Amino acid sequence: MSDFFLADRSDGVVRLTLNRPDVHNAFDDRLIAELTQALESLGEDDGVRAVVLTGAGKSFSAGADLNWMRRMAGYSDEENLADARALARLMQTLNELPKPTVARVNGAALGGGTGLVACCDIAIASDKASFGTTEARLGIIPAVIGPYVIAAIGPRQAKRLMLTGERIPASEAARIGLVHEVAPAEGLDAAINAVLDDLLRCGPKAIAAAKRLVRDLTGRPITAEIVDDMAQRIAQLRATAEARDGIVAFLEKRRPAWLA
Ligand code: COA
Repeated sequence: MSDFFLADRSDGVVRLTLNRPDVHNAFDDRLIAELTQALESLGEDDGVRAVVLTGAGKSFSAGADLNWMRRMAGYSDEENLADARALARLMQTLNELPKPTVARVNGAALGGGTGLVACCDIAIASDKASFGTTEARLGIIPAVIGPYVIAAIGPRQAKRLMLTGERIPASEAARIGLVHEVAPAEGLDAAINAVLDDLLRCGPKAIAAAKRLVRDLTGRPITAEIVDDMAQRIAQLRATAEARDGIVAFLEKRRPAWLA
């Protein structure tokens, strides 16, 4: 698939491993382009039930490749902007993927690495992991990852991380809601597998619709329009073949088709 990440697929679960361990899986323009393309095709693949994102070696991702950042600063304004937009598209593609995504945070997740974690639906961290939006320490800002980090931890916690550039351990990341769970390094895969088991029990179309639901409702007041939109969504969903099967399967004490 790519030199920059490894893709391993089994039972509908695709595990993507960022694979530049010599630079702690920092991402440059090539990795960004290839990862975005891979995610887009996974998003359209009916056989894919969940995507796990992790890093090779001791880090999850050290964020933007600083050699690439330095290179880009010397490009024309148009090239510089096009390149930044490519990174923004990667984050958006991951955030909006119509499949459940799980960040398996094996080590340091800094800058854009914290951004990738925030874009995943569920994040499970090793107790060796660390996090931070370190950009300001480099004279830049966590712009393209900002919306996802703020959505994950709220503006109050985001201000502290973004203004100080401090690094926080996994326990603190869990406390502020950036990750859902911390596991001992040797128990990380067991924790990931437990989450995957739960995800695979759910209807794939229901998961995509639930993900969309959270996105569409976030930050919105509960207006009459929203109330009616929700009624329409459940009316439409429960008439689908997947939902009919799921409900009848429960009543008949059998497995639904997606588990068969
Ligand atoms: N871009 C490019 N290269 C990076 C990198 C990045 N984001 N992060 C680490 N590297 C490189 C280092 O320059 C070093 O290269 P060298 O072997 O040629 O000297 C190599 O990876 C090893 O890094 P080092 O700092 O020696 O490893 P460490 O185990 O002590 O620390 C990190 C690992 C990830 C904690 C540390 O490298 C780090 O803080 N990186 C910067 C992360 C960051 O602020 N990212 C935000 C970017 S916007």
